[in-house]
Amino acid sequence: MRPVRSVVVPVAGLGTRVLPATKTIPKELLTVVDRPLIDYVYEEAREAGCEHFIFVTGRGKSAIEDYFDHAFELEATLEAKNKTAVLDDLVYRKPPAGAVSYTRQQAPLGLGHAVLCARRLVGDEPFAVILPDDVVQNERGCLAQMIDAYNEVGGNLVAIEEVPQDRTNKYGVVAPEGPADGRLVKMSGMVEKPDPADAPSNLAIIGRYILQSEIFPLLADQGAGAGGEIQLTDSMATLMKAQTFHGFRFEGARHDCGDKLGWLKANVAMGLAREEFAADFRAYLKDAIG
Ligand code: G1P
Repeated sequence: MRPVRSVVVPVAGLGTRVLPATKTIPKELLTVVDRPLIDYVYEEAREAGCEHFIFVTGRGKSAIEDYFDHAFELEATLEAKNKTAVLDDLVYRKPPAGAVSYTRQQAPLGLGHAVLCARRLVGDEPFAVILPDDVVQNERGCLAQMIDAYNEVGGNLVAIEEVPQDRTNKYGVVAPEGPADGRLVKMSGMVEKPDPADAPSNLAIIGRYILQSEIFPLLADQGAGAGGEIQLTDSMATLMKAQTFHGFRFEGARHDCGDKLGWLKANVAMGLAREEFAADFRAYLKDAIG
């Protein structure tokens, strides 16, 4: 089994669901507690063993590159002031030289097109995709859990979770083939944003994928699908005729941070999980609720 060394992170979206915050700040730099969404992505991918972090960016997103860069003035100042703990944390969050690559999606043609933009950087090997909107809160990260499962079954994997039937038109939805085997569900099909009446199940794809490189030629030929966009789901459905796909029911709570309410909930849930202020925050929330 070839290891998954690269992770592709699409970050070109306009973030219209969280305006006006995203008028001048890339959505992926919105913070949950004290870290931007892309920091969660980086940590999750690193924990899962990824060594190459490929960001598919767009116009107005250069602050993402700055985030992963050396911050000379800041680090020198922290050092001079002996702020060692903060400095150590910044250094810990900085990828090794050459580990991050950026490419631009020149037109907003959809998620499938964004992944296709990473083709030359990924090359001919399996790779992961993480969508930064979906933050999964768990002791062991979602991608690391998926890599464990991938090492057992190979092929292609997508993270899935049950959603209310009336929300299937917000997601890619999978058709399971037979009952689940532990956390794994063999798949026989998938469809992007189906109407609730036509959905093959209520198992939605969450923004984590492990894919074989044979997806790339399919993406290159993929016509527009749901919403007039080139959909990753449509090419995955085609690849499924030649390769296995499993849905993976991950452990953990998923927060949709591309949505205002989801982002607020993420801040509360992840704030409560932070030892240094959990007790005070809990007391504050209790008081605020009354
Ligand atoms: C994308 C995918 C969809 C998936 C979702 C998960 O949709 O196309 O299949 O279920 O992410 O967040 P988007 O949210 O970009 O419309």
